[in-house]
Formats: sequence, C-alpha cells, structure tokens
Amino acid sequence: MDESAWKKIQKLRQSYLNANGDLPDYWQDDELLKAYDETLAMRIRWKWRAVLDALPLPLTDLPNIIVDWGCGTGGATREVLSQASQPEHFKKVIFMDRSSRAVKFATRKTSEEFPFIKYGIKVDDEPFLLLISHVFSELPEAELKKLLPLLHKASALIWVESGRPLESRRLSALREGLRSTHSFLAPCPHQGLCGMLVPEQLENWCHFKAPVPKEVHHSAFWRECSKQLGFDLRSLPVAYLFAVHHPLKTDNDGDHVRVLAGSRKLKGYTRYHGCKTSGVFEAEFMKRYSKQIYESLAEPGLHSIYRAKDLSPKEPDDANSL
Ligand SMILES: C[S@@+](CC[C@H](N)C(=O)[O-])C[C@H]1O[C@@H](n2cnc3c(N)ncnc32)[C@H](O)[C@@H]1O
Repeated sequence: MDESAWKKIQKLRQSYLNANGDLPDYWQDDELLKAYDETLAMRIRWKWRAVLDALPLPLTDLPNIIVDWGCGTGGATREVLSQASQPEHFKKVIFMDRSSRAVKFATRKTSEEFPFIKYGIKVDDEPFLLLISHVFSELPEAELKKLLPLLHKASALIWVESGRPLESRRLSALREGLRSTHSFLAPCPHQGLCGMLVPEQLENWCHFKAPVPKEVHHSAFWRECSKQLGFDLRSLPVAYLFAVHHPLKTDNDGDHVRVLAGSRKLKGYTRYHGCKTSGVFEAEFMKRYSKQIYESLAEPGLHSIYRAKDLSPKEPDDANSL
C-alpha cells in the first residue's frame, strides 16, 4: 500500500475510535475502500472466521440468501462464502449500505471471488440470513430503530461486533428486543434475560478472544499495518450473536455454561467468568479436578461451552488430575 492509502486508512481508523455512536458517510473513493478491505476489514474477517467456526450449525443449514447490512466492502459475506463447505449453497446476496460506492465495491469483489452468486437489491418474503458487522460505533439509536423490522424478519442472523464494552452491551440490549421473535444459538447458553443486563454486571460485558491467524505473525505487511494503525496483533476481542427465527428446538436448554473472556490462571485453579440460565457469575475451577478443563478455562476462545456438571465436579477426575 502506498503512503496516500496508509494516510487515508489511518484517518478512517481514528474517526472510528473517536466516533461517539455517529459518523457521516466516509467512503469518499475506491482507494479508501480498497485500503480498508486489505487492513481493517481483514481483521474483522478473522473475527468472523472464529465466530463461524464456533457456530453450532453448519452454514449450509442456513438460508441461501444473504443480506449483508452496513456491508462496507462485503468482508462478512465473503468470509461466510469462504468458510462454507459448499459455497454454492448460497444463491443470492443483497448488499445494503448507505454508501452506494461501498455496495458497488462489495459486489465487484464478491463476484470476482464467487462468480456464481446473484445479487438483489430488495428483501422480499423469502427466508434470508442477515449479516451485520461492526456498525454499532456509528449507528445512533434512531438508525438502529429503523433497522429493527429487518432484524425481526431475518430467518437467521449473525451480528459480529468489536469486543469493546459499549458495542457488546448494545448487542446485549438488542438481544432483549429480539427475544419475541428469535432463539439464540450462540454464544448464549440460554434463552432468558442476558446476564449482562442486571445492575450487578454494569462493569462487565460479554466478549471473547478470537485467534489471529498464525501466518499474520510472520508477515511483513501485517507488521507494517500494526505500526501504521496501532493494531495489537495478539488480541482480537469480539462480541457476537447468532439467532434464528422461532420456532426452533434449541439444545442450549440451561444445562450449559458459556465461559467468557477474562479468565485468570492461578496456582492450582483458574478463575473464570461464566454465563448460565441464572446469570453471569465468577467461579474457580481447581486444577486437581481436571487439568484439561483447568487449562482450557484459562484460554476460553469461542468454543467455550461446557456442561454445568463438568465445571462443578464432586470428585477429582483421576484420569486427568496431577
Ligand atoms: C465499520 S464499517 C463495517 C463494514 C463491514 N460491515 C465490515 O464489517 O467490514 C460500517 C459500515 O456501515 C455503514 N453504515 C453506517 N451507518 C449506516 C446506516 N445508517 N445505514 C446503512 N449503512 C450504514 C457504513 O457506510 C459502513 O460501510
């Protein structure tokens, strides 16, 4: 990337960091879209990769029409198509963004990589998978309100956000509004009130750590990117929600615990934050019960779902204990 592109993307990143829930349309040219697609969007795609990898359903079980709202360069859609075992399962994509330049860019990039995809402009009555990604930092409540009918209509939706407190807590609040129409398949281990919305959890937020692909750590481009944009390439916090329209029998029936980011591994035990039907809690798991669970609780990742009884063993697990 040349100096002018770095300058543009630095300015955009700064405006994201300073945005207070609102930003005017900033896609002034294709050079900026391209620079975004190669840098910030890639980092977002690594979050999508982790989220999609942890979904409790194969992507091919989801509706074959994708609606990508606030699509930007279409990175979320391309990540879904790249991760699907059979990308041809998906027939049509509807890119939506207040910037027609962004929609054009997303369409061009997607058709280069996935030539079999057709494009639409309007959502009709066919079932669709709604993708939303990294819009909260620039979406005022009034704009979010306008989006609600589309959310309620979605047969399935995957919303991925930065794992920062503000965005994560907005996602928790949004989940409340969706309870009338949707079931939550991930990361929530239950269908009740989000445990982060009770007064005792005001300082806390639901988030996870997505892995950064290994090759990134050996890449001169990403080293430069990290320098130019001030990225931390070790840490990729993410908040997300995967929901499907009722009725659907879910097996997250309250017997499971989702372990959130923020564990601490201490001598002989791991202190972790869990979410279950009765709410969010902090607990300790003794190494002597199971070394394997003690280790995995320390680095929970996005597959961090446990049976409640495995986290409260009565007796040490002889096979795994020291
Ligand atoms: C940070 S970018 C994220 C782009 C893409 N979803 C991704 O994850 O890479 C936010 C996008 O939301 C779009 N956007 C912001 N407010 C919007 C609105 N009210 N209606 C439609 N699109 C909006 C912006 O134009 C921009 O493309």
